[in-house]
Amino acid sequence: MDHRLKRWRSFAGALLLLTLLVVVVGTAQADPYPQSTLHPKGDFARMVDELFRTTLLWATIVFVLVEGALLFVIFKFRGKPDDPEPKQVHGNTMVEVIWTAIPALVLAMIAVPTVRTIFRTYDIPKGAEVLQVEVIGHQWWWEFRYPQLGLTTANELHVPVGRTVALKMITQDVLHSFWIPQLAAKRDVFPNRSTTLWFKAEEPGDYPGQCAEFCGIQHGRMAFQVIAQAPDEFDVYVGRMQATAVPVAAPATPVSDSTVARKTAAAATPLTTSTLAATVSVDADTMAGSQLFMMKGCIGCHSLNATKPMGIGPNLAGIGRRLYIAAGWLENTDANLAKWIQHPQTVKHGVLMPDLGVTDAEAQSLVAYLRQH
Ligand code: CUA
Repeated sequence: MDHRLKRWRSFAGALLLLTLLVVVVGTAQADPYPQSTLHPKGDFARMVDELFRTTLLWATIVFVLVEGALLFVIFKFRGKPDDPEPKQVHGNTMVEVIWTAIPALVLAMIAVPTVRTIFRTYDIPKGAEVLQVEVIGHQWWWEFRYPQLGLTTANELHVPVGRTVALKMITQDVLHSFWIPQLAAKRDVFPNRSTTLWFKAEEPGDYPGQCAEFCGIQHGRMAFQVIAQAPDEFDVYVGRMQATAVPVAAPATPVSDSTVARKTAAAATPLTTSTLAATVSVDADTMAGSQLFMMKGCIGCHSLNATKPMGIGPNLAGIGRRLYIAAGWLENTDANLAKWIQHPQTVKHGVLMPDLGVTDAEAQSLVAYLRQH
C-alpha cells in the first residue's frame, strides 16, 4: 500500500509540474520575445500565423484522438492472468479503408490552405501607393534603397504604418535570408537572382529582423530593425534623410538652395578649418571629427549622404539617430560607437572595416561628428 501511495504521489507531482509549465508557456507575452512569430503585427505574418494555427489545430485533434484511443485500448483490453487466448485475425478491409481515408482528409484540410497561402504570398502588390524597397544583403549588414524616394540607408528600415511595402532582394556576396518575424516571413536572398517579399505594418513599433541563413562567421550579428511609423512621422524621416544631401552638420534654420550650393562647393574641395567655419558653426570636436572622417579614410567606404548610394560600407546618413550600430549588434551609445570605430575587428571579427589606429580622443571627435548625422 505504501509503495502504491508513493508512486501515486510522484505521478501527481509530475502532473502538477507539467501543468505549471503549460501555464507559464501559454501565458508568455509577446514583448519578452520580439523575434516570436506567434504575435503577428503585419498582414503577411498574419497569413503565415493563420496557416500555423490551422495546422496546429488539426495536429492537436489527431493527437488527442489517437492517444485517447490508444490509452482506452490499453486499459480496456489489458491482459489479465486467466484470460483465454484472444481471437486471432488477419487484416480488415473496412478498418484499412477508414485509416487511409481519414489521414487523406486531414492532409487535404492542411494542404489546401497551405497552397493558397503560398500563392497569396507570391502575389506581389503593385501600384504607385506601394512603397518599393530594394534590399541588398552584405556580409554582414543590410542595405536598403527606396527607389521612389531616391534614398539609401543601412540596417534600419523605416516604413509607414498601413502602407504596403514591396521588397526586391538580392545579395552582393553569399546567400542570406531576410526575416522579420512579426511582420513578414523568411525568404532567402541570392546573389544571381532577386526574390521578393512584402508586408504592411499594422501598428507603429520597432520590429527586429535577422539574417536566417548561415553566411559566415558573423551570421549571428547580421540583424536589422524595421521601424514602423505613422505616415506623417515617416514623411519627417524621409525629409531628414533627403536633407543629408547637404554635407556637414545640418543647420538649425531651413536650408535654402544657395546654402546647399555653397556647402556642396565646400565639400568638393578639401575641407579646411576656415571653409568649415564659414559654412556652419559647429563645435571643435565635431569639426575635428569631420576632418578625421576624411583623413582616416572613413569617407572611402561610407557615404553620409542618403541620396548617394556610393561606398562599399553601410551608408551612414542618419547614423546619429539609429537604435543600433554594427548591424543590430550594439546599442547606439557614444561609448559603443567609439568602441566600434576604434576596434571593429574585436567587436565584430572578420568585417571589412579595418582597425585604423584611432585614438580615444579621435574616436570622441568622430562620435561627435557622426551624432550630427
Ligand atoms: Cu547573412 Cu546569415
